[in-house]
Amino acid sequence: MPHPPPRPIEIAARGSLRGRVAVPGDKSISHRALMLAGLAVGESRIEGLLEGEDVLATAAAMRAMGATVEGADDGTWRVWGVGIGGLLQPAQALDMGNSGTSTRLLAGLVASHPITATFTGDASLSKRPMARVIEPLSLMGADITASPGGRLPMMVRGLCPAVPIEYTLPVASAQVKSAILLAGLNTPGVTRVIEPVTTRDHSERMLAGFGAAVTVEASNRGRIVSITGEAELKPQHIVVPGDPSSAAFWAVAGSIVPGSEVTIANVGLNPTRAGLFEALRMMGADIAEVDPRSVGGEPVADLVVRHAPLRAIEAPPDLAPSMIDEYPVLFVAAAFATGRTVARGAHELRVKESDRIAAMAAALGACGVAVEEFEDGLAITGTGGEPIPGGATIASLLDHRIAMAMAVAGLHARAPITIDDATPVATSYPGFFATLDGLTECA
Ligand code: S3P
Repeated sequence: MPHPPPRPIEIAARGSLRGRVAVPGDKSISHRALMLAGLAVGESRIEGLLEGEDVLATAAAMRAMGATVEGADDGTWRVWGVGIGGLLQPAQALDMGNSGTSTRLLAGLVASHPITATFTGDASLSKRPMARVIEPLSLMGADITASPGGRLPMMVRGLCPAVPIEYTLPVASAQVKSAILLAGLNTPGVTRVIEPVTTRDHSERMLAGFGAAVTVEASNRGRIVSITGEAELKPQHIVVPGDPSSAAFWAVAGSIVPGSEVTIANVGLNPTRAGLFEALRMMGADIAEVDPRSVGGEPVADLVVRHAPLRAIEAPPDLAPSMIDEYPVLFVAAAFATGRTVARGAHELRVKESDRIAAMAAALGACGVAVEEFEDGLAITGTGGEPIPGGATIASLLDHRIAMAMAVAGLHARAPITIDDATPVATSYPGFFATLDGLTECA
């Protein structure tokens, strides 16, 4: 997938945001739905799948390994799986584009199948560390050759039968946990992951929903997730809730732009994902949850966000795993709060689609915000609700969340903010700018 040419976009303040938006399907859940449906025997249907580039990379990879994956105009995807153990040797390298989740989870699937797959990716993904999955998957018997520094391109030669392991996660990573559990699906015996810090639990929930033998227990070593391999997965009808990581941009935009009132429909509020809303409420944000319900086994509600004065907080490090993708936009909220917000304990931000600590320090600094950079986070002194100066061009660094967070900042800036390249937004939220126009057109 060659990158499209960079598309700069200028975002100027345009008054309040008002209206109702529906965010696209959850990216994490969409990846998992395609993978598990691709391993079930029979036809699964998926409603609300995120049709962003990252998820489409997973769909293409599952097709390349034998699953039948069809989109449809009515938005319902149909998948006919190959059965556990049935993945086929892909004819070509699997192009993962920008998607770390596709790469790490699919590496887990390949690791316990008798196939070999080569994973490639774009310039951003090719800088990201893969050692974190190489180590446990190698312990299970996979033979993995990565590029220097444990990067892509990476060749995974699976072992079948693989060896079950018990593995304690050295980094809080749902991708690593999921890679091991997915490898465990086609491994005889019990594969066990111990996570000292709880991370998003979509894999466990969905594996259980497909009929896999999964158990979760609390222990003094952390949360223990065990999977007994070689059970058959039963096809499912999955409804994917809206992505809280996409809703986050409207929650912050509605909070910082005076006069705003935004309803965000159908937001997934799994407690392992909803940390940003808690942090914003600590800052004084006015976010109401309406019509709480369950969608596809996940808690969901509509959120009504009204402009409110924000005050600085010390962001609790223990919220980090449940808002790890939301720090860029949390930093933007902090830029408009009264006082100095300190958000630390988020070292993992250094190895996301970009180094998000450095990227946001540079972007906010260029827009006239007082920022102090730490190894594991930022301190930001806010304007007390006034617009930030803006007037800069910022580098999005092939990182969708940097582009969207800085677009939100531009909505309350004295001079427009130019994002050097808006194309990465298509990885997780293709309709982002159209939705923004819709929310501001009556202003
Ligand atoms: C994800 C886990 C997180 C997150 C990523 C999606 C997942 O990554 O940042 O966007 O779907 O499992 P880590 O596992 O590296 O924390």
